[in-house]
Amino acid sequence: MQISLRENNTSFDSLLLLLREEDCENLNSFGEEMRDILSVLVSRKDFNGKKGSLLRVPLTEGCLYLIGLGKKEKCSLNLIRDSLAWGLRSIGKNHGVKASVLISHLKEYEGLSFALGEAGELCGYVFDSYKTKGKDYEPFSLTEIYSDVYNADEVSAGIKLADAQIFARSIANEPGCAVCPSTMAEKAQDLAKEYGLECEIWDEKRLADEKMGALLAVGSGSKNPPRLIHLTYKPKGTPSKKIAFVGKGITFDSGGLNIKPDNYMLTMKGDKTGACNVLGIMKGAAELGVNVEVHGFMTCAENMPSGSSYRPDDIITARNGKTIEINNTDAEGRLVLADALCVASELKPDVIIDMATLTGACAVALGKYRAGLFANDDDLAGKILESSERRGEPYWRMPLEDEHISESLKSPFADLVNSGERYGGAIFAALFLKEFVAEGIAWAHMDIAGVDFRDKEYGIYPKGATAFGVRTCLDYLMKVSC
Ligand code: BES
Ligand code: MN
Ligand code: ZN
Repeated sequence: MQISLRENNTSFDSLLLLLREEDCENLNSFGEEMRDILSVLVSRKDFNGKKGSLLRVPLTEGCLYLIGLGKKEKCSLNLIRDSLAWGLRSIGKNHGVKASVLISHLKEYEGLSFALGEAGELCGYVFDSYKTKGKDYEPFSLTEIYSDVYNADEVSAGIKLADAQIFARSIANEPGCAVCPSTMAEKAQDLAKEYGLECEIWDEKRLADEKMGALLAVGSGSKNPPRLIHLTYKPKGTPSKKIAFVGKGITFDSGGLNIKPDNYMLTMKGDKTGACNVLGIMKGAAELGVNVEVHGFMTCAENMPSGSSYRPDDIITARNGKTIEINNTDAEGRLVLADALCVASELKPDVIIDMATLTGACAVALGKYRAGLFANDDDLAGKILESSERRGEPYWRMPLEDEHISESLKSPFADLVNSGERYGGAIFAALFLKEFVAEGIAWAHMDIAGVDFRDKEYGIYPKGATAFGVRTCLDYLMKVSC
């Protein structure tokens, strides 16, 4: 996307204008021409800035889109970003090819240019590459901004953040027949080539040599063998920190021998979004040139039932030597993460953040718009929540201390079982992961089940993969970087 700054707004294809209720009562901050148009619409009560209202006004030349932001006291940058995305999308649906926005009256919101770059770029992507006809959305670009508060550097950083999310979304949206663990490895290799990252891939033979018993067990039922992918980004100068991301990459989760019933299997192509997000974060880190050494691990397998699958009752050994009794093959995410968390810990990073579509229980607890955050370190949790707030990706911190649930991790025959009772399922899973993070490392776990996919568009999110987590993590990296 290339955006240019325009000083006047006399001619446009589609112009988007976001207005608070107060803006409609006082039109003085607009140029004469715009003021005339708006005053007619406001006096006719066609538009008054109510939150969630959208008015499309065809003009002799071009078309004006008005979006209501509601009351000023409740307006925020997050609302503006979401509304921008909504407005831009409706321009796309009306087959506008070039969108412009006018934002000077919103200059009090810090980070406006960043949000503009982000929203503008994000709206250029929809997952419709498999539709041979009847696409309901025209690719378009936000090309012009009318404002005296336009900041080119911020816009370009926003675009980079958006590109990282689009990259993650575009892989996550692909079905299981198109993306298997080795495809994930190829995507990582391509990314490494493009940005000069280090890339190491462990295939099934190497995984056996490296004692990755948990990842191998999960992958054993599929004809598409598992992979552990490790990307490294090193900044030019001395890094301020070493941070590792670990993403769950189950390219399809059928449940394995504990097969998922009918509808529960639908959408399970999305069980790789943690790993796709890590790919997006690596791209974003490189694009933004953060001053942090960033490691990205993607732990990839396909969970399938077959004659070679791992079984309920099996006892397997993870990389750190802990033994696990399998009581449910559908609790596979924690297993592939276990081995990867061991490998990440061996690098002795300052921080490990893992993200995974780990438990239906987390989605039941928090709904489809808020992810679960678990952390063994208050400072890290606080920083992640700050980044999440700034970027409009909501999380809720969940407890990691629970003696009853900890007790239920014990197996009569091995060190651990992989699944517990239904109640508190998200906490059980987080406590299980904690067993594989080395002492002394600040660690956070994001359970993104529920927030990773949307069946209808909402705010900044289109239908399909959301890349939820990428914005928060990249914001966190940018903050840690300085
Ligand atoms: N990938 C699922 C979790 C999931 C469920 C993600 C719904 C997104 C939407 C995970 O592997 C799983 O199957 N978890 C089980 C755990 C259970 C067997 C202990 C679950 O949540 O039911
Ligand atoms: Mn599962
Ligand atoms: Zn899963």
